[in-house]
Amino acid sequence: MSNRRKFIAQAVLGALGISVGRPAGAIQPWSNRGAKPPPTVLSTWNNLPANKKAWKVIKKGGRALDAVEQGVRLVEADPDDMSVGYGGRPDREGIVTLDACIMDEEGNCGSVCFLQEIKHPISVARLVMEKTPHVMLAGQGALQFALENGFKRQNLLTPQAAKDWEEWKKESHYQPVINIENHDTIGMLAIGQDGHISGACTTSGAAFKLHGRVGDSPIIGAGLYVDDEVGGAVATGLGEAVIKTAGSFLVVELMRQGLEPQAACEEAVRRITRKQKGFEEFQVGFLALNREGKVGAHCIHPGFVYALTREDTHEVATASSFM
Ligand code: GLY
Repeated sequence: MSNRRKFIAQAVLGALGISVGRPAGAIQPWSNRGAKPPPTVLSTWNNLPANKKAWKVIKKGGRALDAVEQGVRLVEADPDDMSVGYGGRPDREGIVTLDACIMDEEGNCGSVCFLQEIKHPISVARLVMEKTPHVMLAGQGALQFALENGFKRQNLLTPQAAKDWEEWKKESHYQPVINIENHDTIGMLAIGQDGHISGACTTSGAAFKLHGRVGDSPIIGAGLYVDDEVGGAVATGLGEAVIKTAGSFLVVELMRQGLEPQAACEEAVRRITRKQKGFEEFQVGFLALNREGKVGAHCIHPGFVYALTREDTHEVATASSFM
C-alpha cells in the first residue's frame, strides 16, 4: 500500500475510533487520558426509581458499588416487576430462581445463580465477592451461604406470578417475548464522584424456563463486565444469545480498542445478528458507559429503553436498534 493510501486508510479507521498498527499492550488505558468522568447512573429499561436510589448514594459521595447494589435492590423487592427478584415469574415447575452478579472498580466480582427463596440475590453476590475466595455460588450452596450470613428465607412466588404460571401451563409453550417484562433484567452501571465505575445485574431469568436454567445475568462477561480503565457494559434480553457472544466483555473490549460506547454496542449486536440464527425472534440489548462518561445503547429490535441519571437529571431514552 502506498504511503498516501495507508495514511487515508488509517485516517478513516481513526475517525471510526479504531486503532491500527499498535500492539494491544500499547493501548493507553482510558484512566490515563484525562479528566474525571461525570458521576452517572445508567440502567436497563424504565427503571428511574432505581436510578434515583443509586443517585442518592453517589450524591453523598458514596461508592459506585454501593450505588448499584442499592439501586437494583429496589427492583428486586418490587412484586410488580415480574422479571426480577421477589414477584419474578417462576420456572416451569413453579419455582422462582434468581441470578445476579456485581463487579467493582478493581475487577473484584461476585455472583449467585439458581438461588431460591432469597429476596436480594445482588447482596448475596456482593458477599460472595467480599467474603469468599470464589466468584460464583450456585443453587443450594448459594442458599446455604446466604442463610449463614443472615439472609432470611421467604416465598418469592407472588399470587400474580402463580396465576401467570397456571395460565402458562395450559399450553406449556416456551417462547420468550421480545421487549415485554417476561424476559427482562436490570443491569446498572454507575460512576461515583471519585470517577470509578461499578456494575450490577439481577434477574429472575426467562419466565417458565427449564428448572435449573441459568441465563447471562450472573455470568461475569456476559450480563455484566466492568474494567475501570475502560468502562462497563450490561446486557438484557435472551441470556443464551448474550452468553454465546460473551456480550458485555465484548463491548468493553471493543471500547478498549478505541470504539465509542455506541459503536461498541452496535458491533456486539451485529456479532449476534451475523452469527446466531433466529435473531428475528429474540431481543438482546446492550448498554455501555466509558471512562469519559459517554453512553452507548443498542439492541436488535426496537423498543429497548434505558434510564440515565446525571447531575440530578433523570431521563428515559430509547436505544437505537438493528431492525
Ligand atoms: N437476560 C436475562 C436472562 O436471560 O436470564
